Amino acid sequence: MTKTMKNIDSIGHLRGESLFVDDIITKQNTLYGLVFDSPIAHGKIVNVDYSKAEILEGVVKIFTYKDILGVNQIGGIIADEELWAEKEVHFAGQPIAFIVADSEAIAKKARSLINIKIKELPIITSAKEAKEKGSFINAPRSFRSGSTKESFDQCDYIIEGETFSNGQEHLYLETQGCYAYPMENGNIKITSSTQGPTQIQIATSKVLGVSMHKIEVDVIRLGGGFGGKEDQATAWAVMSAVAVQHLKKPIKHVLNRHDDIRMTGKRHPYESTFKIGLTKNLKIQAFEAEFLQNSGAAADLSPAIAERTLFHATNSYFIPNVKTTVYSCKTNLPPNTAFRGFGGPQGMFVIESAIAQAADEIGVNKRYIQEANLIAENDKFSYGQIATKVEAGNSWTSAKEKFDLKKLEKDILNFNAENSRFKKGVSLMPIAFGISFTNTPMNHARALVHIYQDGSVGLSTGAVEMGQSVNTKMIQVASQTLGISSSKIKLETTNTTRVANTSPSAASATADLNGNAVLKACKLLMERLRKISSKMLSVDLDSISFENDFVLIKNKRSDLSWEKVVAQAMLERVALTENSHYATPQINFDKTKEKGHPFSYHVYGTAITSVTVDCLRGTYKIDAVQIVHDFGKSMNYGIDLGQVEGALAQGIGWMTMEEIVYNKKGQLMSNALSSYKIPDILSVPKKVDVIPLETKGNEMAILKSKAVGEPPLMYGIGTYFAIQNAVKEFNPNYKLKFHSPFTPEKVLMGLYES
Ligand code: MOS
Repeated sequence: MTKTMKNIDSIGHLRGESLFVDDIITKQNTLYGLVFDSPIAHGKIVNVDYSKAEILEGVVKIFTYKDILGVNQIGGIIADEELWAEKEVHFAGQPIAFIVADSEAIAKKARSLINIKIKELPIITSAKEAKEKGSFINAPRSFRSGSTKESFDQCDYIIEGETFSNGQEHLYLETQGCYAYPMENGNIKITSSTQGPTQIQIATSKVLGVSMHKIEVDVIRLGGGFGGKEDQATAWAVMSAVAVQHLKKPIKHVLNRHDDIRMTGKRHPYESTFKIGLTKNLKIQAFEAEFLQNSGAAADLSPAIAERTLFHATNSYFIPNVKTTVYSCKTNLPPNTAFRGFGGPQGMFVIESAIAQAADEIGVNKRYIQEANLIAENDKFSYGQIATKVEAGNSWTSAKEKFDLKKLEKDILNFNAENSRFKKGVSLMPIAFGISFTNTPMNHARALVHIYQDGSVGLSTGAVEMGQSVNTKMIQVASQTLGISSSKIKLETTNTTRVANTSPSAASATADLNGNAVLKACKLLMERLRKISSKMLSVDLDSISFENDFVLIKNKRSDLSWEKVVAQAMLERVALTENSHYATPQINFDKTKEKGHPFSYHVYGTAITSVTVDCLRGTYKIDAVQIVHDFGKSMNYGIDLGQVEGALAQGIGWMTMEEIVYNKKGQLMSNALSSYKIPDILSVPKKVDVIPLETKGNEMAILKSKAVGEPPLMYGIGTYFAIQNAVKEFNPNYKLKFHSPFTPEKVLMGLYES
C-alpha cells in the first residue's frame, strides 16, 4: 500500500500559509538584531567606535566578543571560528558585533554610524596562492589504491591537464534567520532556519557557557537549505541567544539578502590537476588528481567536504590505480561550506574533464572511454569498498537504448553538417554517489511516536523539512506501517527536546535514517496493538494486521476499527508511545588507512544532454536532458522526480551560469541577483525526460527507496561537455578548457580562438 502522497506542504505553500521564521507571530517586547561585519578581508582591528551608534534612539545594546560568558568559538570540526572577531578579521563579511534595537530600520541606521579602523594585511583569494604560501586549514588527505607510478609506465596514453570549478551561492528562497526568546530559569528557546538543530544547541551552550539542556532548538521548516544551513545557520542563532541571555527579551534576526550573500560561505571553488593513463583499448589504468579546495577563512565543514571529493574522484568508473590528494586551502573568503553534493560534484568534474581531454587527444568520442570503464559488480572503489548491486552499466545501456542515442547522434551529425551558425553537441554523464555520512558516527537517527487516545498520531523525528518533502515521506512510512490513513498523522516540528543529539539533515541520508527510526517505532507499537486486537476478536495473533484504519483477519477486513483498538489499549494501560533509534548497519571507515566501507549503498544513473550553441552570439540552449535514474523502488515518485529535476537545474546552473566573483580585495562582486544568475524558466532544458531504472530497490534504503537529494545534481556536469562538443564542432582549433561555469562569454571566446 505504497500510495503516493502529495507533499503535505503543497496547499500551505500555495496559499502562503506555511510558517517560516519570519512569519512567526512575535511576542511582546521583541527586539531586532543586525550584524556589523568587516568591510576588509584581512587585517588587524585597530579600533571600533560604537559611540555614535550606541546613543541612537532605539538602540538597546551592541554586543561584541566582550559580552560572551562562555567561549567565543563556533567552529564545528575545528575550533577556528570566532563568533565575533576579537583582534583580527579574516574575511570581508566576518561578524564583529551584533546590534540589537527596537526595529530593523534603527539597527540598520546604527550600523552605518559605527566607525572601524583596520590595519590591512595581505589577502589571499585563490586556493593556488594559499598552497604556495602554505596556508592550510588542516593536513592534506590522500586516497591510494594500486600503484599509479608503475601503472603509468605501461600505459599507451598519458594525458595531463588542469581544471577549475567555481563556487555556488545557495540562494535558498528563505534567507538565514532565527527567533530566540527567554524561558524561565535562564533557559532559552530558539526557532531557527537550520538543517542542524543540534549543532545550534551545542554551539549556543558553549558560547553562553551553559549546559545543552538549557537550550531548546525548534525548526518548523526551511525555505531551502541546499547545505547552506547545515553549519552556517549557527552563528545567527548563537548571536541572538547571547542577546537573550543578557537582555531577557525575545530577539528576532532574519538576514536580508545582501547581508546573507555577503556574509555566508558557498560551494567551494576547486583548482585541480589530473594525470590519466589509458591502454590502447581505452581502459583507464591509472588516475592521479590533486584537488585544491578554496576553503575560505575557517574550517567550517571543509575537511569533510574535501573527504567526499576523494570518495567521488573516480565517479562511476573502475580504475585500478588511483592516487588522489586534497588540500583544504585557507584563504580570505567567507568560510565555504556544504552545498548539495558536498564536494562530490567537484571531484566528478575533474575525472570527467580528464576523460574528455584524453578522448580529445586520442581522437575518440568521450563516451567510448566512459563506457569502457564503468564500474561493475565486485570492483573495488579506491577507498576499499567493494561495489555491489552496481547499476552503472544498466543505467548507461538503458539510457542509450530508451532515448535512442544512435538516432540522436545521427540527427546531430546531420544538423551540424547543414548549419554553420548553430551547432549541436551531446554528452553522456554517468553518476555514482555514495549514501551515508562519510563520518560513520553520524549515521543514526531517532523517532518519537505518540498514538493519542482518539487514534490520531503525533510523529517527531530529527529530520528537517527544507522543501525536499522528508516530512511527507515520514508520514508515509508511519501510515504504511500502522495501517492507518495519513490524515491521522501529524508531523511535529523538529525539536531538540523531543528528539535529541541529531545529525544534521544532510548527505541525502535524512529519509533513510529517520525513516528507519519511524519504521522501528511503529513496528513496536503495532505489535502491542495486534495483541490487543487478537484478544478483542478472539483470533490468532498471526492472522491480525492493520490496513485502511481497520483490523484485518487473514487479510480480510473486520469490524474492529483502529480507534477501538487504541481505546482498548488505554483501558489496558498499554504504552501508546514509542521512541526508537536507528544506526546504519555495516558501515565503517578507517581514516588511518583511508580504507573501509563508508557507504551503505550507491545511487547510479546516466544522463544524455544535448545542446545547441548560437555560434554568432556564444549563447546556448539546452535542448534536452534525458535521464535513466536509479530510484531503487521509489516510495513517492512525484517527490523523487521533483528532486531529480531541481537538482539537475541546480547542477546546470553551477556548470553554466552561476558565476561567483570576488575581487582581489576579497570582496564579493556578484553580491545580488542582478549580478549573480541562477537558472530560470528560460534557461532550464526545454525537455527533461526521466525514466526510473528498473530495479528491485535496495534493502539498505528506507522501504527500498533510494536517497535522491544530491545525486541528480551531478547530471548537470554533462551540460558542460555537451556545450564543449558543440564549440569544437564550430571551431576545430578550440583547445579544450575545463573552467566552469561555461558562460556565454567563455563560449564566445572558445568559438573564435585560433
Ligand atoms: Mo548537504 S551538502 O550534505 O547539507
